[in-house]
Amino acid sequence: MNIAMIPESLVHVPCDTLVIGHFENESISDTAVAELDQALAGQITTLLSTQPSCVEYGKTTVIYTLNQIVPKSVLLLGLGKKQKITNDRIRALSAIALKAARQIRSTTLATTIYAHDNGQDCVAAAQAIVEGIILGNYQFNQYKSNTANSDTIEKVLIVQHDTSLTLELGNAEIEKSIIIGKSVNFARDLVNHPANYMTPSRMAEEASFLAEQYGMDLSVLEFPDIESLQMNAMLAVAQGSEQPPKLIVLKHMGDVTNNEVIAFVGKGITFDSGGISLKPGEGMQDMKDDMGGGAAVLGAMAAIAQLKLAVNIIAIIPCTENMPSGKALKPGDVITSMDKKTIEIINTDAEGRLVLADGVSYARYLGATKIIDLATLTGACVVALGTITSGVLTNNDAWCQQVLDAAEQSGEKMWKLPNHDDYFEQIKSTIADLKNSGGRHAGAITAGLFIAQFAAETPWVHIDIAGTVTTPKDTGYNQAGATGVGVRTLIRLAETLQKR
Ligand code: BES
Ligand code: MN
Ligand code: ZN
Repeated sequence: MNIAMIPESLVHVPCDTLVIGHFENESISDTAVAELDQALAGQITTLLSTQPSCVEYGKTTVIYTLNQIVPKSVLLLGLGKKQKITNDRIRALSAIALKAARQIRSTTLATTIYAHDNGQDCVAAAQAIVEGIILGNYQFNQYKSNTANSDTIEKVLIVQHDTSLTLELGNAEIEKSIIIGKSVNFARDLVNHPANYMTPSRMAEEASFLAEQYGMDLSVLEFPDIESLQMNAMLAVAQGSEQPPKLIVLKHMGDVTNNEVIAFVGKGITFDSGGISLKPGEGMQDMKDDMGGGAAVLGAMAAIAQLKLAVNIIAIIPCTENMPSGKALKPGDVITSMDKKTIEIINTDAEGRLVLADGVSYARYLGATKIIDLATLTGACVVALGTITSGVLTNNDAWCQQVLDAAEQSGEKMWKLPNHDDYFEQIKSTIADLKNSGGRHAGAITAGLFIAQFAAETPWVHIDIAGTVTTPKDTGYNQAGATGVGVRTLIRLAETLQKR
């Protein structure tokens, strides 16, 4: 898909479909839209007065232009109530418009920069539109034999119909949104691939592709390396699987004058069967998503490197399967983590916190000054927050606020959970320092608090994306399957951490 800006009046844009956004209960204020309406013999005004519900949030109406103007059709896009508009709504709306245009078999889509007249800044609106287009156009059909008939938009034109827009918006801004959108789609691909393809080794290959393509330092730690670092919590999970574990370490050192080194640690369980504490068969296929944290980290690194952000980031992704076998970890086993804490295994299905324990220890070992981890960690988080909001836990409120602000700005919903010391009682073991399950109560919190033990004094934020990593159905800019959650927040966070 090719995206370009075009300074042109609305009636002259060469396209199959021209998107015009309109708020509920508003009359046409934009003179360019009024001119378009006139050229169409007042069809837009007629629609607005006879069917006012056509501009409710997310509704689309096709107006065929029958050679009255250059665009072959105009897609009237309902922006909903003016006071409810946000950049994330614009992102979703542009995806909705793209999908509607695809349905009427358009191949060239033009869009105005709608909603910028609402005190919304024009550049941010245009960027949200571009991101929405790239995210909304995502389809994962690599495993389908017949995709010849699937509709595709080949060209997108961002119409700058007045000169004030032309002045503010440059190609660099559009390019940035394209990079962000593609990076989210990259993470979605990693998650959507089945586990027989997306093995720990394949994850390492994907990281190596990014390192080469965009210029980052990569090291992939193999079994003997992981063993000599004594990362026995990670190896305990890996020991039941035939697939060799890989610890991916990807570095982007964008500012040598800055002492801050941020670690992005992503859970990379390429398949979670539960191990000896085997999961029920129903729904087990979804556990190919259990490397969604690692995928988000890789997607974010791809963008951060391309945007050459002036920050120092180390991505750490412990990758392994969690499988039952004669060699597998057993409930009751006691293991010793990299930082020498002993852990009693209560449930082998609580494997995420084990690999993250060593991942976080390794981040500190490499000199991280701040840590953020992303993980599809607990079913309890899905019960608490559903598929809409990710759960957050921290040992440092200031660092957490920076992460939450980045999430807010990028339109990813997150909510901080309580971290009171009292919860820690639940993960104390009678025979070891910790146990890996705190039972059903407050499962998302006790899982996070487990990881917190390994962050020690280093400011740390944990994001549980178990519910948000995939979505059951197409909505806005998401399609059923992987969402790529976390990528946009990490990129935004990296941007805000720049000192120059
Ligand atoms: N990967 C799962 C968590 C998960 C559940 C992700 C649903 C996505 C959707 C994790 O490894 C797990 O199995 N957690 C257990 C922990 C329990 C045994 C303490 C859980 O949440 O049930
Ligand atoms: Mn598990
Ligand atoms: Zn898991």
